[in-house]
Amino acid sequence: MQTAAGKLMKVFLTRRIPPEGMKILSAAGVCEVSQWDSDEPVQRADLLKGVQGAHGLLCLLSDKIDAEVLDAAGPNLKVISTLSVGYDHLAIDEIKKRGILVGYTPDVLTDATAELTVALLLATARRLPEGVEEVKNGGWSSWKPLWLCGYGLSGSTVGVIGLGRIGMAIARRVMPFVVKRLLYSGRTAKDYAAEVNGEYVPLDTLVSESDFIVVSCSLTPETQGMCDKAFFSKMKNTGVFVNSSRGTVVNQEDLYEALSSGQIASAGLDVTTPEPLPTNHPLLTLKNCVVLPHIGSATYSTRGIMGALSAQNLLGGLQGTDMPSELTF
Ligand code: NDP
Ligand code: DGY
Repeated sequence: MQTAAGKLMKVFLTRRIPPEGMKILSAAGVCEVSQWDSDEPVQRADLLKGVQGAHGLLCLLSDKIDAEVLDAAGPNLKVISTLSVGYDHLAIDEIKKRGILVGYTPDVLTDATAELTVALLLATARRLPEGVEEVKNGGWSSWKPLWLCGYGLSGSTVGVIGLGRIGMAIARRVMPFVVKRLLYSGRTAKDYAAEVNGEYVPLDTLVSESDFIVVSCSLTPETQGMCDKAFFSKMKNTGVFVNSSRGTVVNQEDLYEALSSGQIASAGLDVTTPEPLPTNHPLLTLKNCVVLPHIGSATYSTRGIMGALSAQNLLGGLQGTDMPSELTF
């Protein structure tokens, strides 16, 4: 694709992306690609420089794309393609105002993220990291009736906050564990919840009646800080809390207090604030808190498909053709 001056369109990639995506971009031969050629995040100054004059931007969830970046890019910018389904890092109002298209990666990572969330829930509830550690450090002295006991899903009530694509995939996966009740909350009730016998309830009811709470909603001004002191104080003392949405949905000071005081039993977090969580963070001192480094979608296959989809979205936006996953606002 050429500009009016007969030059190839410029795109800037804020990171190394899976080879499946790079192959699609090079095979298309329609754009001149420049890239932050690293597995580590681009520094703000390099992002502002790299994006100058770009027609397309391929970014990650760790890149804050706000008015400053859009100004630095200038009027050529036609499309932003993010290698993620979450788009809370994009200043959508600014982007919309400037008529820039947005591509994202829904659906293709749903199964991987749901699998990881259920794995995290089980690991947290059944204390797997603690058990592994005890085997290694000699703490395993014998089979003991009350040692390393946790909580089981069978006969329990599970509450899913945000029964969207991933929330529903989590619900489908926990039901075969013979869960007694599946509660969910969100902005609207869902017809498709019938498949998992999902009961739409107010958030307070979900929090007070669930044995396991899984947060799988998107980060919005309404959900930011939603899991706070008041939230944890309504949970059962035996309750297990799991978050695979975004870190800022949780007030981490309040979570630390709830975990260390025995207000709730345990928590599993795939997402934190900030990311990475500093190694001296108080949450990391707790045995009843399992923290993962945001690996929900991290299977080889899923990341390859995300890479390909983000490249196709970028090319579609540049060429004015179909974007397989365009975010409509
Ligand atoms: P969806 O848009 O399908 O689902 C988002 C859900 O959030 C919807 O069910 C929506 O409910 C709910 N929601 C929105 N506002 C509220 C609210 N105020 N209270 C409760 N629920 C609310 O997105 P996905 O399922 O595809 O992805 C969800 C999120 O998961 C992403 O935005 C991302 O942040 C995170 N994610 C994390 C990954 C990881 O690696 N840990 C991987 C992939 C995604 P309603 O429809 O009623 O508005
Ligand atoms: C997303 O896509 O939003 C995740 O957080 C990473 O896959």
